[in-house]
Amino acid sequence: MHGSRKFIAEYVEALAGGLDGYRPAGQVLLFPAFGHLSVLSEAVQSAGLGAVIGLGGQTLHTEPSGAFTGEISGEMLADLGAGWVLVGHSERRQYAAETDELTAQKVGAALRAGLKPMLCIGETEAEREAGRAREVVVRQLEAVLAEHADGLAAVAYEPVWAIGTGRTATPDLAQEMHAVIRDVLRERSHALADGLPVLYGGSVKGGNARSLFGEPDIDGGLVGGASLQADEFAEIVRALEV
Ligand code: PGA
Repeated sequence: MHGSRKFIAEYVEALAGGLDGYRPAGQVLLFPAFGHLSVLSEAVQSAGLGAVIGLGGQTLHTEPSGAFTGEISGEMLADLGAGWVLVGHSERRQYAAETDELTAQKVGAALRAGLKPMLCIGETEAEREAGRAREVVVRQLEAVLAEHADGLAAVAYEPVWAIGTGRTATPDLAQEMHAVIRDVLRERSHALADGLPVLYGGSVKGGNARSLFGEPDIDGGLVGGASLQADEFAEIVRALEV
């Protein structure tokens, strides 16, 4: 829940400057608050970044339309220029009490709307301290794979204790959890394990992105705070080339 139209205009101009014609090897996506989707979409197009940057929503409702005041559907996100949507972000699980079951339904709703779902999973600090980190992450992933193994477009491992705290997981710890995720995917199919990007999120910055992305099972990042500074985000994008 960041930004304004003024912020977006300045941000996209600065991002275009920071990328300076650089064409990333991977895919770059921005997930603004939904009220800013069309403004951001227009700014990205007019800055000549349309081929480089895709857009996504931060959450969606399970229904395509109806009497659900305050909600937004996948179909509406698509209509506003989104190609992707985050599902199961820890802040949705925490503040909107979204369960594994609802998260799986939302992945289904994203697919119905033609959006690519990026599933967010990750343990809390208390769960890690109780030695339950693997169990929680596997449970969150399995709940969606059981229903939509073929539909997921990306998974983001985000330990809740690392989100917005400045406490980034070490590359070793993140890699260990990504390997767990990869194993769960491999149990379903080798194609899924090899093809599905698994991103790390939680205090990713320009200064730590390269070492995180250098790990064998970390395919990229889901960036919160640092993405709000265009020069920092451009540095993270460039770190994908490792
Ligand atoms: P952070 O946020 O990069 O600020 O830790 C990550 C997120 O909100 O997904």
